[in-house]
Amino acid sequence: MQRSLEPEIMDAPDIPEELLARFHKDLARIHFFLGTHATIERFLRQDSQPLQRVLDIGCGDGLLLEYLQKKLSVEGIGIDQKPMPRPGVHIIAADAVSGDLPHADAAVCSLLNHHLTPEQNIALIRNVGRSCRRFVISDLIRHPMPLVLFSLFICPLIGHEAGADGRQSIRRAFTPEEFAELVRTALAGSGGTFSMDVSPFKSRMIVDIRYRP
Ligand SMILES: C[S@@+](CC[C@H](N)C(=O)[O-])C[C@H]1O[C@@H](n2cnc3c(N)ncnc32)[C@H](O)[C@@H]1O
Repeated sequence: MQRSLEPEIMDAPDIPEELLARFHKDLARIHFFLGTHATIERFLRQDSQPLQRVLDIGCGDGLLLEYLQKKLSVEGIGIDQKPMPRPGVHIIAADAVSGDLPHADAAVCSLLNHHLTPEQNIALIRNVGRSCRRFVISDLIRHPMPLVLFSLFICPLIGHEAGADGRQSIRRAFTPEEFAELVRTALAGSGGTFSMDVSPFKSRMIVDIRYRP
């Protein structure tokens, strides 16, 4: 499968707020089915150093941060260029690829990387490394299997627009090999290391970057 570069409905600069809110509701449903939040929590817990502050890059409506604040008792800060407010969650409107990021112990991100070009992903990984010692990335995998499974089992449970964007997101995603190469380029010469975990049925990959010991 070739990577599709067609934009998603969600990327439209003038997307109405009501539609954006519906997208985030459907994304919450998708994360519930895939267990995304618990998976990110499990990875964050694998740390020998204390975790006090966590950034969520491309946090959307801040649902993951609300979850992590509760489960890990951390201070959460969300970064998003089109944020949706959530009571009790601190969200900053910014471009995470090029903007200054607050200092934190770790950053996470979910379903962001397929929206970015390879060059933007490399810049994002380097930018996060300036303010965090760790970056846990969760994203989709471009492969026919998740495309079929998503169309059969998840699309009937979510709105039409989110279904269309979800399918386009899988077509737009990187393969694990492509993404590993981007991470290697971003970390080259920095001493940073990473590991990658691919779920059964290729529904997601997690990339766990450690910038410094
Ligand atoms: C598919 S949504 C995922 C939202 C949330 N992380 C989740 O998993 O439900 C992608 C989010 O990334 C944000 N985004 C895209 N490019 C960004 C950038 N360069 N800097 C900050 N946020 C960005 C979008 O505004 C959107 O909220």
